Amino acid sequence: MKIGIIGAGHIGGNLAQQLISRGHDVSIANSRGPQTLSEVAERTGATPVDIVDAPREADLVIISIPVRAVPELPPGLLTTTRPGAPVIDTGNYYPQRDGQIAAIDAGQPSSAWVSEQVGRPVVKVFNNIYSSELISRVQEPGTPGRRALPVAGDDEASMRVVLELVDELGFDAVDVGGLDESWRFEPGAPAYGPDVDSVKLVQMLNEATR
Ligand SMILES: NC(=O)c1ccc[n+]([C@@H]2O[C@H](COP(=O)([O-])OP(=O)(O)OC[C@H]3O[C@@H](n4cnc5c(N)ncnc54)[C@H](OP(=O)(O)O)[C@@H]3O)[C@@H](O)[C@H]2O)c1
Repeated sequence: MKIGIIGAGHIGGNLAQQLISRGHDVSIANSRGPQTLSEVAERTGATPVDIVDAPREADLVIISIPVRAVPELPPGLLTTTRPGAPVIDTGNYYPQRDGQIAAIDAGQPSSAWVSEQVGRPVVKVFNNIYSSELISRVQEPGTPGRRALPVAGDDEASMRVVLELVDELGFDAVDVGGLDESWRFEPGAPAYGPDVDSVKLVQMLNEATR
């Protein structure tokens, strides 16, 4: 797939590396411009681009920036993707980093808020794993105890693509349902961050209380 990553930090960079190693064509952007991304390009093989060019003609877009920065993204940024391209949000809302965001404080799952900001359905995934584990915990399908990652989103076609991608990147994928269920793996929930297989993860998702 042609994949555009917005955010070239811990998660964006490591996802770029893993996607390239599986043969995808990856462009990557940050807020400061491609001239600042030579180290990331060398390490991952991704092509540094201006932010407006990352989603252009992409089959899939990954947004991996601090939640507070999402409203600062250029207006209409995602209008140039291939039609219906899934958009992944890896974000977690941390008020101490992001400042207070009233809608999320009032109970809106952060990815539902991000979806409103960018004007596209988003799929929440890769938010509950340390960036280094995206590389160190990769396991083949069928490996006993293979680590599972929760995935939530409202667009069925996008969900299908992303569930498959999670498996391709070395993890079992657990379909948690729509974004209104994504609070079950946000910071503070039992299913936020544990290194567990799919059986245990489902149990932890069900144990969450709002
Ligand atoms: N670190 C983890 O292990 C981890 C795990 C799971 C989820 N997450 C979540 O994933 C998201 C990204 O985390 P991270 O740790 O990868 O962050 P990070 O290392 O701090 O990197 C953030 C990236 O976002 C870019 N960025 C910031 N504002 C931007 C804007 N307005 N337009 C374009 N790019 C912008 C930054 O580019 P510049 O430097 O040029 O500003 C940088 O490349 C966060 O929501 C975080 O909570 C992180």
